[in-house]
Amino acid sequence: MVTALSCIDRPRQIAQTQCRVALVGFGTVGSAVARLLQARRDDHSLRLTHVCNRNIARKKVGWIASDVRWTDSIQQVLASDANVIVELIGGLEPAHQLVRRALQCGKAVVTANKQLIAHFGPDLLELARENHQYLGFGACVAGGVPVLSGLHDGLAGDRIVQIRGILNGTCNYILTRIEQAGVSFDDALREAQEAGFAEADSTDDIDGQDAAAKLAILARVGLKIEVSPQQVVRRSIRSLKPFDFEYAHELGCTVRQISTAKLKDGQAYLAVEPSLVSNDSSLARVVGSQNLVVSSGEFGGDTTFGGHGAGGDPTAVAVVSDLLQAARGRSRGVELPDHISAASCEFVTDQEAPHYLRFVVRDKPGIIAVLASVLASCDINLDAVLQKPGHTKSALPFVITLEPCRQKQLDNALARIAEFDFLAEAPVTMPILS
Ligand SMILES: NC(=O)c1ccc[n+]([C@@H]2O[C@H](COP(=O)([O-])OP(=O)(O)OC[C@H]3O[C@@H](n4cnc5c(N)ncnc54)[C@H](OP(=O)(O)O)[C@@H]3O)[C@@H](O)[C@H]2O)c1
Repeated sequence: MVTALSCIDRPRQIAQTQCRVALVGFGTVGSAVARLLQARRDDHSLRLTHVCNRNIARKKVGWIASDVRWTDSIQQVLASDANVIVELIGGLEPAHQLVRRALQCGKAVVTANKQLIAHFGPDLLELARENHQYLGFGACVAGGVPVLSGLHDGLAGDRIVQIRGILNGTCNYILTRIEQAGVSFDDALREAQEAGFAEADSTDDIDGQDAAAKLAILARVGLKIEVSPQQVVRRSIRSLKPFDFEYAHELGCTVRQISTAKLKDGQAYLAVEPSLVSNDSSLARVVGSQNLVVSSGEFGGDTTFGGHGAGGDPTAVAVVSDLLQAARGRSRGVELPDHISAASCEFVTDQEAPHYLRFVVRDKPGIIAVLASVLASCDINLDAVLQKPGHTKSALPFVITLEPCRQKQLDNALARIAEFDFLAEAPVTMPILS
């Protein structure tokens, strides 16, 4: 008799312990999360209850369970019995207000929105704490690569001093196409857009804003410093040409958009910039839209995280992993995210490094001597001069490598060099990373 009753009550028991999930935003990631939840229906810990999107009628699909409610009213979702709201609409507003109101209504929140967390993360974490709710944002950095939880939990015992990586798949795709096919930047961008690896407006990717937001989040979690995306130095990959890769190869290197966050002697340096990396390094081997992050700990040394940095399915895995955390927190009594202790540090905007300095000139005698004299007057030592044959004299590229110097010294020298009439285009500088 007791056994029979238990059987009858089982669906009700499952329903009572299930974590009810409302998705807001049914685009690339939102629909992939719904598919993943659908595929995991045997695991009864999560149940999709709502899908919310503006103009919802055009979003409806047949493969979602019939008891899921479709709505275009965020208010209806906030007033519902969902335990977790998944914010996947992107952008700062109305995503920010949605997340605030969800936490205030006593709901946990999971988001993949890096701009939101980079700009408002500390405030939202504080609000989550005040309301005893979970705020998960593992999908914000490197898509399906569990780098945030790795830094936060897996490496909690170490003191992280540097995080360096390739955080933007669009840039990496473009750079590897220029390298492998010798195409121009514009053609590589067009290809990336056609292949679905770049958005119609890729400015944020190419000029570094996207990676800067991710780096700010990584620095908060890994280096435990409070940093806004505006404090990250950003340089674009727009000026790179196929011959930059030829010269980089001569130097045993390749070119990648590298994000670096470094904390040393109370000074923090954060930058997203095209850089030369040695062909032997793991960073050089990252091709296409993959992401890679290397964290350096004072005690444990280097740890590498790599994999699919974007795309619906990999990002959905990160979202669902956070949902499972939220579900576990709920059944154990709320598990709060740890407080980020904002260590006091001074932000610096340059660091000493050997540099690659590329010119394109209208050729005439004495150019190298003139450039060497300006560089020497700024206390910069030349390392080598490289010039490959096969270019026209009216637009002749060559490269000077420099011994370690600061970007500020280089900027001073470049301001003077800009006045010379033999420049056919603005020089390009990149640090050569060890
Ligand atoms: N895609 C990736 O590979 C990836 C990777 C990591 C993180 N992320 C992050 O995940 C989030 C979602 O990205 P996504 O690629 O899935 O974007 P998406 O394909 O553009 O999807 C966004 C969805 O939200 C809806 N939406 C936008 N504003 C809304 C509003 N005010 N009210 C209701 N619905 C609204 C959109 O509706 P419409 O159809 O009307 O536009 C669309 O269906 C972003 O924060 C993004 O940065 C994405």
